Parts: sequence; C-alpha cells; structure tokens
Amino acid sequence: MQRKAKDRVVIFDTTLRDGEQCPGANMGLREKLEVAKQLARLKVDIIEAGFPIASPGDFEAVQEVAKKVKGPRICGLARCIDKDIDRCAEAIAPAGSKGRIHVFLATSAIHRKFKLKKAKTEIIKQAVLGVKRAKKHCPDVQFSPEDAARTERTFLSEVVSAAIEAGATTINIPDTVGYAVPEEFGDTIAYLFDHVPGIKNVVVHVHCHNDLGLAVANSLAAIQHGARGIECTINGIGERAGNCSLEEVVMAIRTRSDAINLWTGIHTRELFRSSRLVTQLTGMAVQRNKAIVGANAFAHEAGIHQDGMLKERTTYEIMAPEDVGISGTDLVLGKHSGRHAFKAHLQKMGFTLKPKELEGAYAAFIKLADKKKTVYDDDIVAIIQEQVSDIPSVYTLDYLHVSTGSTTIPTATVRLKKDEKISSDAACGDGPVDATLKTIDRIAGVQGRMLDFSLQAVTQGKDALGEVSMRVTFGDQTLTGKGSSTDIVEAGAKAYLNCLNRYLYSKKKRLPRQGRGHKSKETKS
Ligand code: KIV
Ligand code: ZN
Repeated sequence: MQRKAKDRVVIFDTTLRDGEQCPGANMGLREKLEVAKQLARLKVDIIEAGFPIASPGDFEAVQEVAKKVKGPRICGLARCIDKDIDRCAEAIAPAGSKGRIHVFLATSAIHRKFKLKKAKTEIIKQAVLGVKRAKKHCPDVQFSPEDAARTERTFLSEVVSAAIEAGATTINIPDTVGYAVPEEFGDTIAYLFDHVPGIKNVVVHVHCHNDLGLAVANSLAAIQHGARGIECTINGIGERAGNCSLEEVVMAIRTRSDAINLWTGIHTRELFRSSRLVTQLTGMAVQRNKAIVGANAFAHEAGIHQDGMLKERTTYEIMAPEDVGISGTDLVLGKHSGRHAFKAHLQKMGFTLKPKELEGAYAAFIKLADKKKTVYDDDIVAIIQEQVSDIPSVYTLDYLHVSTGSTTIPTATVRLKKDEKISSDAACGDGPVDATLKTIDRIAGVQGRMLDFSLQAVTQGKDALGEVSMRVTFGDQTLTGKGSSTDIVEAGAKAYLNCLNRYLYSKKKRLPRQGRGHKSKETKS
C-alpha cells in the first residue's frame, strides 16, 4: 500500500491518563516515566500524560513527561474550567511546541440534565470559553464533547462547530460509556463531516470505551468514515471494561491494510514489550487469550494446526510473532555474565537504570540465573519492575519458610526487614499462601483482605518464574501488586508486600484514586 499522508491514523495513547484511572492501576512517577519512554520508542504520536488538576502527583507526572520524553506530543487533560486549564498549561509547558491541552465537557442530554444541570446554550458557551482559554496558552488545543456517542447529533454538530470556531485544532468524539455499535458510530462521524463547517481543517479523533467489547470495532468504523486519530491504551486498560486496545487496533490496521487502506506510524515490534511493561508496572495481567499480546496469541496447540504451520506458516497465522516483538529467541545472559554485558543488554531492551537500581537488578539477575537454566527478556522485565518503582519498599522479605502437605497444618515462618530492622513471626493458615500472608499481617500490624490472586508463568519451562498478581484491601483502599519468584509462595508474599508498600506510600502521600470509591472528585473516565 502506498502511504499517503492523508491516510495516516494518528495514535493518541492515554494509558497514563484514562488507563491509569482504572481501579488498582496506579503508577508512581518513576513508573509513569518508564511507560512514557516506552511509548516514545513505540512511536505513538501523542501521549496523554495525565490530568494535572486531579492531584499534585498527576501534575508532577505530566510535567516530568513533558520535560523528559522526546518525540511524541505531550498532552494534559482539563475540564472547561479556568483553574484546570491554567494548571494543565503549566504542566505541559516543558514540552514547548510539542505540548497540547485537551479540554472536555459533557454534551449528552443525560449528562446535561443530571450531572451539569445546564442548558444546551450554556454548554456551548462553556466549551467555547474553555477552548479560548486553552488557546491563550497553547496553539494545539483538543476538544472532547464527553458522551458524544449518546449526544443528539444536531446538538453535537453545534458544539463541535463552536469549538472549531473558537480555535480547537483536534476534535475528539468519545464513546464515554462504550454504548455505540460500529455502524452507528461510523455514521455519527460521517454526519459530523457532512454537517460541521470547518471540520476538514481539524483532525478528528475517536475515544472508545469497551463496555460492550466494541471499542476496537467502533474505532475502525470511525476511521473508515473520516476520523484520523484513535485514542487508546496499552492492553486496553482503563475505567470499567477499559479503552480501545492500542495493540489490537494498530495490528488490525496493519494486518488488514488491504481492506482498511490506512496506516499508522507505530513501530509494531515494540508492542509486546510495551504490553509487558504496562502489565508489570500496573500489576494488571492480560488474559492468556488476549489478541496480539496474550500468552496464547501465537501458540498453536492442535496437531492439525501445528502440521499446517510446519508446512506453511500462513495457514494458521495472520501475523508473524516477530512483527509485534515476540521473538522466542530472546534467550539472554547466563550466570557468568558480567555487569557490563547485563547493563548493555538492558540498554538494548530500552531500560536505563540509575547505578543503585542497576546493582539491585544485577544481584537479582544472578540469584535468578543460579536457580534457572535460561533467563529470558521477560524474566529481566520482571526483575527490573522491582527496581524502577518509586514506591518505597518499606517492608522487604528477608526469609520465608513454609511447611505444608496433605496431612500437615500449613505453617509459615516469615522474617521481614523494615529500616534495617528485622522482625519475625509464624502463623498457621488454610494453605501455605494464607499462612504466609497472615504472618505478614501479624508482623506489620495490618489486616489485608485479598480480593484476587492470579499466577502466571513468565516464560516457559518447569523452572519458569511464577508471577503473582494480587488485589488486596487494606483499610479503605484497594491496591494491586505483583511479585515474582521461582517459588510461587514467595511470589505471593512479594506481591502482598508490594500491595502493602503501595498502601503505606499512598497513606503517606495521600495519593488519590487508590480504588473504587476513593477517586478524587476531579478524575474522569
Ligand atoms: O471517556 C471520555 O469521555 C474521556 C474524555 C475525557 C475524552 O475520557
Ligand atoms: Zn475515556
């Protein structure tokens, strides 16, 4: 396919804003920066780095991304309210000419009546004022009529026309609650192109939520009717059922370029790594059968498929795993590898660690290489995750012994380290994990309630690292954590401590949005 500029679909990544808003997916500053740098390697066009008014943490994250991440445009979100817009402008300022302010205001009848209690004329007025205020700070202004998919088309056209006239350069059409179906959503976009003067002079984006599992389909329908930007997140994370999944929509456009006739600038070989990084840093695992990046996406179990694959790969595979960055030959270093080779390999993978983090990662790597014959890139990513977090490890696991069996009462002995001080205790439980977590609670003086526990092998082989993802409630907060080890009880203990450390950190920093019911008033899906 000949790549014409008019057929290029802009990829607007909102993993750090809408994605991070989903319960339990909180990331600290350092983690957000790592994700943003990876998004730059993936060559997304725009990174929505956060909602600066929501909290000091969000503000700082947007500002740091704007300072340190080169390549994509850096965008911040704001309501059509002066203080939001001014704060957003301040946060994106370090991006210079690459900064964007994204203002939004709900337009649907249901939002007008129950949330905003405003008439149509007032909505138009506020949208115009918002765009104009943003425009004073920054030439690149995006406007979103929230819940556009449920807004009367005639009114939607009026709001969009007014926003364009006020100076918006990008118009984003959100399906905020994932209500649309593809044909209808495509028609809405076509309607806007037919009824809004000046729409051809702006870029039209779509922002689809996945409540009916249609976010990717709706986004594809929209670009076939003139939209040229897709807002999406890595692994499709986001509020409720999430957002349009970046990897799915990008690979659909690429794999079916014969039918879609459009293209993106995404460096698809970075997709798998981006997915792994977001999984690691948010603690939100993807299901095995997830398209493109799930563990089974390129696995062929059935004999008939394997036979076909051996004869000709394309009999059962529409994409090559290498196209999304799954090499299968990412075997790396052994236990005799030196620091230098380790550091060089990390750099090749895109990680730049501070000297102390590098020391920690190297020590963990040597320990793992001692237990495990082959160390893969995925094992390394799991190790790195523990080093790059800016959530302080208040408690670390110093020693764990469990005794269990079909005729023994499961008992755990745990030693935890806190500020160089060692504390130990022992407890019985319903199983080895239960006994271990109860002992941790006793030592730390907390009472966690585990909501979810999932275990995944990071790579293949009986000696694979087991990665535990956990959701735990402490007090009034729900947190997600991860831990990995070749021993699954130890992985569980680490994941639990990860949740506990996040809880202690958020209490200290008063981080907003640590779970349902604790979102800041200002957050937005
Ligand atoms: O879902 C939504 O409507 C949003 C807007 C802010 C774009 O996230
Ligand atoms: Zn959204």
